[in-house]
Amino acid sequence: MLPGAVSGWHLPFSIWYDEAAMLTIEAHGLTKTFRSGAFPRRATTALREVSLAIPKGVIFGLLGPNGAGKTTLLRILAGLEQPSAGAVTYRGHLVTPEVIPRLRQEVSLVHQSPLLFDTTVFENLSFGLRIRKIAKAEREQRVTEALAMVGLSQLEKDRRARGLSGGEVQRVAIARALALEPAILLLDEPFANVDQATVKALEDLFRKIGAGGRTLIFSTHNPSLAHRLAREVVVLREGRLSPSPAPPAPATASAPPAAPPAAAGILVCTRPLVR
Ligand SMILES: Nc1ncnc2c1ncn2[C@@H]1O[C@H](COP(=O)(O)OP(=O)(O)OP(=O)(O)O)[C@@H](O)[C@H]1O
Ligand SMILES: [Mg+2]
Repeated sequence: MLPGAVSGWHLPFSIWYDEAAMLTIEAHGLTKTFRSGAFPRRATTALREVSLAIPKGVIFGLLGPNGAGKTTLLRILAGLEQPSAGAVTYRGHLVTPEVIPRLRQEVSLVHQSPLLFDTTVFENLSFGLRIRKIAKAEREQRVTEALAMVGLSQLEKDRRARGLSGGEVQRVAIARALALEPAILLLDEPFANVDQATVKALEDLFRKIGAGGRTLIFSTHNPSLAHRLAREVVVLREGRLSPSPAPPAPATASAPPAAPPAAAGILVCTRPLVR
């Protein structure tokens, strides 16, 4: 058991404890206030008591306009940002600063504007694996497989990252995260810089990843895309979570059907669980 693991007294309802095993990651009343500028410092509350519970193996859409708090929430779930109040649990364990390095081994975030190292595509993917002490042969295999998954050929691996287009950078960043084989893949606006053909390819890829039992959480400001891809969609507005809205009507008769409604096991709650 991880240090700081959640025990019964943290969770006010036994149902949460019983279901902890099937849940991957949960936010409990997350509030985040940033303070910036010179004195008097300006306070911006990016998240307000956000609570949600995401089961294993689902594709989860975080929908919201600019400034809604999507990036902030994903960064907190990835352990890159500390909440001002509230907590995150991973597989039922409270995420404390001491366990964040372990969380990062299993949860990978692809940033909204990914930064690649100024080296080859291969090195960009290989770096994280070397840090994790993965042997050379396995590193090469994982890099090759991850590049193939995002539709970048084997030949691309020796290219310099500096010369890549915006869409290619996005795909290399996704491949870099996939090579780490995370249990949870967080994607911040993965469709922002890509053309229609790449959107389609990424949608297919994300479905494949979800079908493989991985949890995938992505943010977007595009409602039809969110509903088409995700099994569950929540809306963030001004840092507050709203329940799933109804999927928008398809724009054309030939548009793909909306995702089926969420299974009964999915919990999305708007009240804080930890105070
Ligand atoms: N490091 C920071 N310092 C100060 N304010 C911040 C910081 N990060 C985010 N904010 C503020 O928090 C709010 C939410 O920002 P966030 O980036 O999470 O929104 P978002 O939903 O990802 O927006 P977008 O769709 O534009 O990416 C915004 O008002 C933003 O200005
Ligand atoms: Mg953002």
